[in-house]
Parts: sequence; C-alpha cells; structure tokens
Amino acid sequence: MRALVTGAAGFIGSHLSQRLVREGWEVVGVDALTGYYSPELKRRNLAHLDGTGFTFVEADVLDLSLAEMGAPFDVVFHQAAQPGVRASWSEFPGYVRHNLVATQHLLESCLHSGVGRVVHASSSSVYGEALAPRLAEDALPRPRSPYGVTKRAGEHLIEVYRDNFGLPAVALRYFTVYGPRQRPDMAFSRLLATRLGAPPVPIFGDGEQSRDFTYVDDVVEANWLAAQPGSEPGTYNVAGGSEATVNEVLKLMTAITGGAPDTVTQEAAAGDVRRTSGLTDAARDRLGWSPKVGLEDGLRRQWEWLMGLPAEALAHYSDRS
Ligand code: NAD
Ligand code: UGA
Repeated sequence: MRALVTGAAGFIGSHLSQRLVREGWEVVGVDALTGYYSPELKRRNLAHLDGTGFTFVEADVLDLSLAEMGAPFDVVFHQAAQPGVRASWSEFPGYVRHNLVATQHLLESCLHSGVGRVVHASSSSVYGEALAPRLAEDALPRPRSPYGVTKRAGEHLIEVYRDNFGLPAVALRYFTVYGPRQRPDMAFSRLLATRLGAPPVPIFGDGEQSRDFTYVDDVVEANWLAAQPGSEPGTYNVAGGSEATVNEVLKLMTAITGGAPDTVTQEAAAGDVRRTSGLTDAARDRLGWSPKVGLEDGLRRQWEWLMGLPAEALAHYSDRS
C-alpha cells in the first residue's frame, strides 16, 4: 500500500508515518516545515523516519499536484495545517491559507489522481463550547476561535468533495492530543518543560477548564482504522476519554515529575472553550476504535521522552508565549 502523509514532520504526522512504515506501507511525507514552531524540532521528528519505506518531500501542499508528490496513492492522510487556538486571532491569513486553501487544492488534486481514500485531521475545536455533557458528531458546530472556523470549513470541503464527486473521505475530530513530540506551544509540553528549567507558563483563567485529552498512539490507531478499505466514510470524534481540568493535570504532573510546574496566572484566553468532551460511540461502532492509553500513563510517557531531549531542542519549548 502507498500513502501520502501531509504534515509528516509534525507531531501527529510523524507518529502516523512511523506506524505506516512499520505496517509495511510505502510512505511519502510532505511538509513545508513552517515556522509556527521550530523547524529544528520538525527535523528531529523526521529523524525517526530515516530508512526504507519513507520518502520526504519538503514542500508546501499548495505548490504541488498529487502527481508531483508521487501519486498514485491508496490513502492520503491530510495532517498538514496551521494549528493552535490562541494564535489564530492575530495570524488568521496563515490559518486560511494552510487549513482551507491548501485543503481544497489537495482534494482537487486527489480527484484527478484517483485516490482510494482521504483521511482528514479535524478538531474538537469545530464544536466550540460543549452544550451537552459529551458531544456526539451531530451536535451543532459553533467554533469559538478563528482556528476552529477554519477547521470546520475544512470539514465542509471534505463533505463537498464526498457529496459531489464521491471522494471517499473520513474526517477525524481529534481532541487535544498529547504524548512524545507534542507541539511545544501546547500546555503539556510547556508545563513539563518548566520542570527542566524553562520559564514559568501562564495558566489561563482559573485552571478549571477541562479537555478530553487523547494520547497520540490512539490518534494514530484511529487513522489506521479509518484508512481500511471497509471502514465507513464519515466524521468521527477521536477523544481519549481522559477528561481533566488544567488544575488536575498540574497535580498529576507534580506527582509524576516530583515537583510542581512553574506557573503564573493570566486572564482567560479568547477562543479557549471551558470544556471539551467527546462521545466516541460512532468510532467504536463503525471503525472499531476506542482509546487505550489513560492520562497518567500517557503523561508519564511524554515526561520520560521530554527528559531525553538535548538542551538545544528543549530551548525551543520557550519560543512561544
Ligand atoms: P504540527 O504543527 O506539529 O504538524 C502540522 C505540520 O504541517 C507541520 O509540521 C507544518 O510544517 C506542516 N504544514 C502546515 N501547513 C502546510 C502546508 N501548507 N504544506 C505542507 N506542510 C504544511 O501539528 P499537530 O499538532 O501534529 O496537528 C496535526 C493535525 O491535527 C492538524 O491538522 C491539526 O489541526 C490537527 N489537530 C491537532 C490537535 C492536537 O491537539 N495536536 C488536535 C486537534 C486537531
Ligand atoms: C489543542 C490544539 O492546540 C489544537 O491544535 C487542537 O485543534 C485542539 O487541541 C483541539 O482539540 O481541537 P488546546 O485544547 O487549547 O488546543 O490545547 P493546549 O494548548 O494543550 O491547552 C490545553 C488547556 O491548557 C487549555 O484549556 C488552555 O487554556 C490551557 N493552557 C494552555 C494554559 O493554561 N496555558 C498555556 O500556556 C497553554
């Protein structure tokens, strides 16, 4: 089997590419190594993919057709995006370019190259504030951030290509993903890095906001199952079932690392929702997916990985505030 993974140098894309290579797939990874966080860290992610079965193309998805990326592909895993909720107020043109214009370009190209299946990385941020205890996929999406707006619009594009042209496409709504190689702008990375000397990290608001944290291997497994020929195209929550508040996470980190992360309080951030919590019955029933890694176990694995990073890589964990 041959796959294209866009965003292959990123956090999730690099884990997914590794898994596909392990399964014996031939993988082409495309990544523009954008400057949202250090390209050095992205090159480190790619170092895990040295060897047979993986070809890296450093390019913007927008600049190439699928043929130029090495089509034919059985599956296109579209992970490339401009992520991050809070930066999306001030850097919106980049979100539109990477999350919308690039997605439409890729889908159009998939149509011409006859791809077997597209698996698209969507986000819990399409929902906005959780108005039900646990959100099912048919809940009305009401994004709270410009980032969420672009991720929801990306899903619309997927639906449009599925409905008009029969492009077999699956959208996976990931809920706050963590684990080794987590992006350095995200909460777990930043908080754990303070235990290794990074400057204090702001806690937004009262710290009682919660997330349905999802371990990266579980996200990779959902992609794997969604790519199987028999699985049903559609939109699925990929939520870890490990809901916790930021304050609870701080306590867990204190126990795991032997000391409290260094934090300062700051007012709540615009676009940050109070709670995310996803119902995963659809993924269980139709993809055969359920989360396997709990928060304490996953957090410990992320901490152990972070402790192994050399100082020059760790320095990038203080790049963004
Ligand atoms: P990441 O930034 O680590 O990875 C994304 C990669 O895409 C980066 O390496 C970047 O250089 C690349 N990229 C961006 N635009 C590109 C373009 N136009 N052409 C080529 N490469 C491009 O982010 P991540 O956390 O691994 O997120 C992966 C996907 O999952 C994204 O679509 C994101 O929106 C989605 N997602 C992530 C989370 C999370 O908690 N990490 C949660 C929900 C959804
Ligand atoms: C994450 C990703 O960054 C998005 O790309 C993704 O789309 C989104 O999950 C999703 O699930 O859809 P977020 O939940 O904001 O977004 O992830 P973190 O940056 O890890 O933040 C988790 C919590 O910690 C948030 O409640 C946030 O308010 C808090 N936080 C974060 C802080 O208090 N301080 C920080 O410095 C960073």
